[in-house]
Amino acid sequence: MTHENVIEMREITKIFGDFVANDKINLELRKGEIHALLGENGAGKSTLMNMLAGLLEPSSGEIKVNGKTVKLDSPSKAASLGIGMVHQHFMLVEAFTVAENIILGSEMTKNGVLDLKRAAQEIKELSEKYGLAVDPSAKVEDISVGAQQRAEILKTLYRGADILIFDEPTAVLTPAEIDELMQIMKNLVKEGKSIILITHKLDEIRAVSDRVTVIRRGKSIETVEIAGATNKDLAEMMVGRSVSFTTEKKAAQPKEIVLQIQDLVVHENRDIPAVKNLSLDVRAGEIVGIAGIDGNGQSELIQAITGLRKVKSGSVKIKGKEVAGLSPRKITEMQVSHVPEDRHRDGLVLEMSISENMALQTYYKEPLSKNGILNYNNIYSYARKLMEEFDVRAASEYVPAAALSGGNQQKAIIAREVDRNPDLLIVSQPTRGLDVGAIEYIHKRLIEERDKGKAVLLVSFELDEILNVSDRIAVIHDGKIQGIVTPAETNKQELGILMAGGKLKKGDANV
Ligand SMILES: Nc1ncnc2c1ncn2[C@@H]1O[C@H](COP(=O)(O)OP(=O)(O)O)[C@@H](O)[C@H]1O
Ligand SMILES: [Mg+2]
Repeated sequence: MTHENVIEMREITKIFGDFVANDKINLELRKGEIHALLGENGAGKSTLMNMLAGLLEPSSGEIKVNGKTVKLDSPSKAASLGIGMVHQHFMLVEAFTVAENIILGSEMTKNGVLDLKRAAQEIKELSEKYGLAVDPSAKVEDISVGAQQRAEILKTLYRGADILIFDEPTAVLTPAEIDELMQIMKNLVKEGKSIILITHKLDEIRAVSDRVTVIRRGKSIETVEIAGATNKDLAEMMVGRSVSFTTEKKAAQPKEIVLQIQDLVVHENRDIPAVKNLSLDVRAGEIVGIAGIDGNGQSELIQAITGLRKVKSGSVKIKGKEVAGLSPRKITEMQVSHVPEDRHRDGLVLEMSISENMALQTYYKEPLSKNGILNYNNIYSYARKLMEEFDVRAASEYVPAAALSGGNQQKAIIAREVDRNPDLLIVSQPTRGLDVGAIEYIHKRLIEERDKGKAVLLVSFELDEILNVSDRIAVIHDGKIQGIVTPAETNKQELGILMAGGKLKKGDANV
């Protein structure tokens, strides 16, 4: 069977300074296929796709669109050839409506004026045709992340895209939104569009893709049919070594209570209770996982423990000392480390260098500063040490945190927080959006910290992660602990019942 290639990328090389981000990469996209692009963080996926979208120009190599060699020297050139990209960080104007964002910068004019009525009609048709539910008159800042993404997709379609590139679209979505997106992608190819999908998640690749191209450290490794490859095959092509999906660990040796939460009540932003009389202990030498559906009080609970949100009533004790009402800095200084769920908002200062970010919690102490004067030599060498030890890949310790890929940003935060040698380590969604290699590494580090006698509290929406890493699992529902189970004696079905607010029946393993 012959296939019509809508895109052919031949021997594409991209060099930044003296760093080769893409090294003679080959990629072919067939008409009507969903083609996955798989690779670890920093492998060069976004760089390759940015060249297809006209945001970067190759240092060398050839790109053909519908069989013709082209020079994609601007996004509008790429758009005129039917190529549209849905970026990892949305490029929408928050204060504008969805419709305004879609129309902005495109050229639909009647006698030189923008025909708003016709535009609104076209947006409506597109959204119905592809199942892209979004209110065109809503302001972008008022809609969910999933809806913002649908607006981005509409924007590319409105500009006439036939070839759509999705750069890690599911990293920001909830499981239900991910299912919706997968359906939208299937609708798109059914209507003759062709898609390149960047994701690390092997299950997602399997659910929708026809073929997958694996790239590793800037080189294309292989293109295979998805049906003929196992997840283990793909993971190994991606990281270049054998990968285990379960983390080896010994039984926990829990010691004294480090974190003690009793009858805790915390309100959310609208002053409605989000955590409702919650009690939980975490001991030295154990990992307690909090499983639950997003929005059941997890965020407010962690914010209350770390001093970022007010405690309404009840108590939070760390090593026996009440911390309710203390400032985040005071709590941090009690040897508490926190890897926050939103790494861009709370974990890193993106415009500061990776070195400065590594020093964020300790810059005011020796050896990083003395008598109020920062010692940059010590800050840089400290950063180099952590980058080496935690496998943070970046061009240098001087680059801004914004230049790192998501996985490397996350490894940098974990390096900083773990290196402070905390007694209590709190981690929220530590592997969200990361690839298998980085996930495996982070899980190993968490277990090592446990084995050193730290108390670890892990919050995650990923049940595989919760089951793999935790020693005890506390399921949160509606601001309360619905049940506590152990991984050896439970399974996803049982966790699902508790997460939905159900009770385990007598005779179930843990009752
Ligand atoms: N504008 C740039 N200048 C210098 N280095 C860059 C630039 N963009 C990306 N890189 C580097 O190129 C490598 C590949 O990055 P990227 O394509 O974003 O990877 P991926 O999308 O696979 O995670 C990374 O090491 C990254 O730091
Ligand atoms: Mg990327």
